[in-house]
Amino acid sequence: MVSGNSKRDDGLQLADMIAGAIMSFAPGEDTGCYSTFVKKSEPAYFFKQALIQDIALSTLLRRARSHGQFPMNNLPSTHIQSILNASIPLFRFATGPLYNDNVSKPNVCDFAFGNPHEMPVAGFADALQKWSVPQNKDWFAYKRSEPEAQHVVAQSLRAWRGIEFEPNDIFLTNGAFAALTVALGAILDAGDEVIFNSPPWFFYEQLILAQHAKPVRVRVNAETFDLDLDALDAAITNKTRAIIVNSPNNPTGKMYPVQTLRGLADILEKHSARNGREIFLLSDEAYSRIIFDGRGFTSPTSFYPYSFLIYTYGKTLLTPGQRIGYIALPPNMPQETRAALNPAIFISQLVTGYAFPNALLQHALGDLDKLSIDIEHLQHKRDWLVRELSAMGYQVHSPEGTFYLLPRSPIANDWTFAEKLAAQNIIVLPGQVVEMPGYFRLSLTANDAMITRALAGFAHAIHV
Ligand SMILES: Cc1ncc(COP(=O)(O)O)c(C=O)c1O
Repeated sequence: MVSGNSKRDDGLQLADMIAGAIMSFAPGEDTGCYSTFVKKSEPAYFFKQALIQDIALSTLLRRARSHGQFPMNNLPSTHIQSILNASIPLFRFATGPLYNDNVSKPNVCDFAFGNPHEMPVAGFADALQKWSVPQNKDWFAYKRSEPEAQHVVAQSLRAWRGIEFEPNDIFLTNGAFAALTVALGAILDAGDEVIFNSPPWFFYEQLILAQHAKPVRVRVNAETFDLDLDALDAAITNKTRAIIVNSPNNPTGKMYPVQTLRGLADILEKHSARNGREIFLLSDEAYSRIIFDGRGFTSPTSFYPYSFLIYTYGKTLLTPGQRIGYIALPPNMPQETRAALNPAIFISQLVTGYAFPNALLQHALGDLDKLSIDIEHLQHKRDWLVRELSAMGYQVHSPEGTFYLLPRSPIANDWTFAEKLAAQNIIVLPGQVVEMPGYFRLSLTANDAMITRALAGFAHAIHV
């Protein structure tokens, strides 16, 4: 078991590391790394500058105090520093006191991240045990996308989506993290632009930067959380190479309607024709099997052939530490495009650092694909919390999918409100960490006992 202190020490080490990297340039100086996409006049710019100074200076002082010396910066890559910059809001939370001083407290109600708070899905460990017994000498040899695993995915997509994917067009990856990295690596050149919708998942910006490409953020509609098609249309330039769409969306829980997806496809077709090269749609479908109220899922890939379908089993099974997922190229993508992308994706997987799932997970995939967390129970937790929080006076919408709620913070500063909740032994993610200032995110992976215990604290915090 990890003790509170060792978690805290890990957090401090990470904070030291980040601060060390940040200290390679003077606090307050425009580094040029993010200024290309965060204008100096934007509040985000000042927030990041303040944060850099905050983290760098406090860590500098702490280290100077404990070691009697100043930290040396030994991270040589300015490129990785730009990626660290984009990670600061998340790391400030994940390595700072709001999370680390509270997460190990007894009886804490932890709604911060999509981590399991119950034992793993029945059958998961059995499948791993069963498939860990070697059936031939190559059982644990180097693996790429194994034909058996490709067939499992093709059959699964046929049964679930009614679409015949070619097994050869399925690329097994270490979850969606790797699938996104590999897909971006296969299509991007330095300087290309990639659009993502804000609020986004934590790491889109960093994964784009990692490819030496330029992230372009477009806000969704503030009222409906639907894609803002006019804003997307306006954001596309002749350098745009891809757009990332995540439905159902983390953190809003919004599932984009057919009409929006058709509109998006029209826009992408128009600009691809104008640019004389395809703009790819990267459809992050991490939560596509976590949908409520019996709704069907419409994949954004359905209307646009130049699409990458990206999936991870980490959400459906709630086992993100056992990493398996995939990229699937849809059958309506022209054959010659798929043929050209096939070796590009393969080499991108290799140079990304062998981004294939391990042998055991691939062998076990036929069994794993049939398992899922209890979606009915998740829906029950959604309804329970939405009902209780609304009755207390919180403004909260009911998500169509994912395992997140996104209530409005009763006070403008969501970080301060998260601190008030922490005083009630409740940990939530401040909205500013996911580009939703004025909100806070709750993960429904918290267990029933945590929810029961948290209700009084939520009721108290809204009145103080
Ligand atoms: C929208 C979204 N995409 C991708 C990922 C990455 O998933 P994995 O860690 O299973 O690769 C996550 C995880 O939180 C996510 O929420």
